[in-house]
Amino acid sequence: MEQTFIMIKPDGVQRGLIGEVISRFEKKGFYLKAMKLVNVERSFAEKHYADLSSKPFFAGLVEYIVSGPVVAMVWEGKSVVATGRKIVGATNPLAAEPGTIRGDFAVDIGRNVIHGSDSVENGRKEIALWFPEGLAEWQSNQHPWIYE
Ligand code: TYD
Repeated sequence: MEQTFIMIKPDGVQRGLIGEVISRFEKKGFYLKAMKLVNVERSFAEKHYADLSSKPFFAGLVEYIVSGPVVAMVWEGKSVVATGRKIVGATNPLAAEPGTIRGDFAVDIGRNVIHGSDSVENGRKEIALWFPEGLAEWQSNQHPWIYE
């Protein structure tokens, strides 16, 4: 089944939104396959956001990601990448719909609470980067009640 990388950024952790974020993915019917609280090194943040290194906001973005611990997670389920992006909401929180995490909890693009992989391929790369130790092997006993 498909997997995505979800990260609660430092502002989300500081603001006590860890449980809220986990709850939304869990209630939807996705499975948590890995999770850790991490203080990210600058070089690691630069690697995670390497595709954006030429952008004017890159330095500020890296500064923000290393400013406090983040929660790194892998979630699994049918179409979890695209649906995860819907749960996360638009990049700019002012454009994000109410009902999405960014739409409900954020105002500024540089404090948008959460990251979610934007494609299956990038999800694979991000999971390999953040969880070289591998993921938990388990299946929920609710599986037949969530998936046909
Ligand atoms: P991006 O990958 O475009 O968005 P998303 O997180 O929705 O996949 O950008 C990564 C992060 O960079 C984004 O979450 C917030 C930050 N960012 C800015 O600070 N300013 C900007 O103008 C943009 C586009 C992004």
